[in-house]
Amino acid sequence: MSGGRKSAKGKRMIYLIAAIAGLAGALFGFDEGVIAGALAPLRRDLGIDPVTDAAAEGLMTAAVPFGAFIGAIVGGRLAAAAGRRKLLLWAAVLFVGGALLSALAGGLVTLSLARLVIGFAVGVAAMMAPLYISESAPAKQRGMLVSIYQLAITLGILGAYVVGYAFDENWRWMFAMGAVPAVLLFAGIFAMSDTPRWLAMRGRGAEAKAALARMREKPESDPAVAAEYAEIQAAVAEDEGRKATFADLVSPRVRPALIVAMGLFLLQQLSGINAVIYYAPTVFQLSGFDSAATQILATAGIGVVNVLMTVVGMMLIDRLGRRLLLLIGFAGTAVSLGAIAIAAATDSAALDTLALAGLVLYIASFAIAIGPLPWVMMSEVFPLDCRALGMSIASLVNWGFNFIVVFSFPVLVAEFGLAGVFGLYAVVCVAGLAFTQWLVPETNGVSLEEIERHLRSGRPLRELGRLHAA
Ligand code: BGC
Repeated sequence: MSGGRKSAKGKRMIYLIAAIAGLAGALFGFDEGVIAGALAPLRRDLGIDPVTDAAAEGLMTAAVPFGAFIGAIVGGRLAAAAGRRKLLLWAAVLFVGGALLSALAGGLVTLSLARLVIGFAVGVAAMMAPLYISESAPAKQRGMLVSIYQLAITLGILGAYVVGYAFDENWRWMFAMGAVPAVLLFAGIFAMSDTPRWLAMRGRGAEAKAALARMREKPESDPAVAAEYAEIQAAVAEDEGRKATFADLVSPRVRPALIVAMGLFLLQQLSGINAVIYYAPTVFQLSGFDSAATQILATAGIGVVNVLMTVVGMMLIDRLGRRLLLLIGFAGTAVSLGAIAIAAATDSAALDTLALAGLVLYIASFAIAIGPLPWVMMSEVFPLDCRALGMSIASLVNWGFNFIVVFSFPVLVAEFGLAGVFGLYAVVCVAGLAFTQWLVPETNGVSLEEIERHLRSGRPLRELGRLHAA
């Protein structure tokens, strides 16, 4: 009986950690998606012209991913000295400050600055939360928690769309709502200690052991706690002797993993997803939907499809394998983007339905594979000693190209029209098919140690799946 009680109790901590993952992911998604509903009233209130002010509008919108890029660099550098907990607390404070500043902004410049602050917080939190989770969660639950994080991103985007719908024309309230998950994140993190691994790294052994015992909800004298603590100490001692460097990342052993992780994020972003996530109502308008209410409603529909298909993707990942799922995803996005481009190029009302069907298929194909898989694979392909550094470089690629797409979208649309821009994204998705076919290994059911042995053997990474399947 006490075992049953223990396991139910032991789960509480996992729920708490999952909630932190969820809140950080939700903030990531909310701050990406909120601009979609806010843009039309903003254009009206601040007198932004989508054609002549395209670059200023792009900069203001893209200030979030740009800030996130910087936040990820700074967060990565400060993580060792300041600790995961303290950085998450600071990020939560910045989230609240940025949300209030953007709600009160009087013009484009203040708004861009406020969004830069929010972006910075997103970058720090989006880096610290997965680190906090992977250093606190029991090994068995790590994968599940990575998926919860991606699901939370999509729920945050949906939440932003719902807020956009609920507050109708009031962009100030839309931005202010971003403070709510941030306050919850602050309260949640405040109640927790830093991770046992970070405390051990700082030489605070007694605190590390106490934190571990608390997280496992067992007494410090418990043999399982002692064994896990000894493992952490051994790993910390090993790390001290050897720090991964950029030279390690590009060495022949690790390079194939770096190419897969960076390549998948590059393709994920250049598939144009955030042109749709940030500018959905504009995309609907350009595809021929004239009423503002229809545009916002269709946008919320996009948010729902994104969430539901992410759940479907999570269920399929271990059944179909990574490669097949990615091939399906890139094929679906390439075809649907092509269809939208055709519909947008032709002004006929009959093609509106094609544009809508295209957008739904596009989001579904993205969410089932191209959304979650880069996150999952970046946590699988790197050898242990290079995992943290590799993951931070991969997330910089994610934010860097997120910025490029979001900034360039209004400018490119003003120049080439929606058809031209979506045609370009379609070509990238075709390249994604080739990239997957030739370079992405099948890691489904392969242990992390086996992946690491394979990298060390010098055989092409892509053969991993083939050998495994044979
Ligand atoms: C991407 C985000 C994107 C989101 C959409 C994530 O995996 O990294 O840039 O907005 O998926 O659901």
